[in-house]
Amino acid sequence: MSARPRVWVTQPVFGDILARLERHFDVCVEAEVAPRSADELRAGLRDVDGALVFIPDRIDAAVIAGAKRLRAIANVGVGYDNLDVAALTAAGIVATNTPDVLTETTADFAWALLLATARRVTEAERWLREGRWTTWSFELMLGRDVHGSTLGILGMGRIGQAIARRARGFGMRVLYHNRSRLAPDVERDCAAAHVAMNELLVHSDHLVLALPHSAQTHHAIGATELARMKPGATLVNIARGGIVDDAALADALAAGRIAAAGLDVYEGEPAVHPRLLACRNVVLTPHIASASEATRRAMVALAVDNLTAALGAGPHAGRPAN
Ligand code: DGY
Repeated sequence: MSARPRVWVTQPVFGDILARLERHFDVCVEAEVAPRSADELRAGLRDVDGALVFIPDRIDAAVIAGAKRLRAIANVGVGYDNLDVAALTAAGIVATNTPDVLTETTADFAWALLLATARRVTEAERWLREGRWTTWSFELMLGRDVHGSTLGILGMGRIGQAIARRARGFGMRVLYHNRSRLAPDVERDCAAAHVAMNELLVHSDHLVLALPHSAQTHHAIGATELARMKPGATLVNIARGGIVDDAALADALAAGRIAAAGLDVYEGEPAVHPRLLACRNVVLTPHIASASEATRRAMVALAVDNLTAALGAGPHAGRPAN
């Protein structure tokens, strides 16, 4: 029997990077991308020392209950609401995530969604492909301006700040709300003003969500907040689905309370609320904000380093989530 630690990887990603794990560990990589049920996760974790897991893998107390050897979980993602960190900590299992390496790519994508949403890019494309363009029309697909408008950012961590810095080129006023105010030099660098939540809702022409999902931020944007938003505003969510009450959002869109939404994440994804799917004025993407080739490679490389370090086999390159 091998004395090397055992590692399980729940998705077959970038084989050349995962190969680094083989220098130190006996590695089992799942052959297919598929949702892993609690039973599958329990079985996969039972006899391993560490695991590289992804956003859809829900690692909680029940899943790790029989995992007597398990010492480390490396999450490939900056968000880690899929991990029950308290349960992992109580069991003495190190949890790590992949901050920093995806900040700029995710901020780029927030802008892609913002522009597509405000200027009705995907709606116009669908309409054209349906063969409905018969003549150039002056009032066709009128959207909302981005330049010169007010950008609101809820959650001003690394990604929020990177989104704010990009607003300069569009001559926008940037407001933000965060549980703690940024240092004055960081505010200056982002050209962003801290405001109360209500002011953010009332004044933003485009509101971008960039905060982590937790019990405290669950449904931070619900019916009450949507009702306070500036009429005709757009909402963009590149953070986590649970931050928005999707049913309330569908209501607000149907009632014309807000003009449009750009969503990369959903409550209960990969399922998408049927009323959001039916909305013409919603841009929908499948949780791909960090999905550039370079960034996804960097995320896996960092997770591999984190797992290697957490299992005591290499230099510590990442930071524990717990
Ligand atoms: C993250 O890292 O949290 C993204 O949502 C998934 O790549």
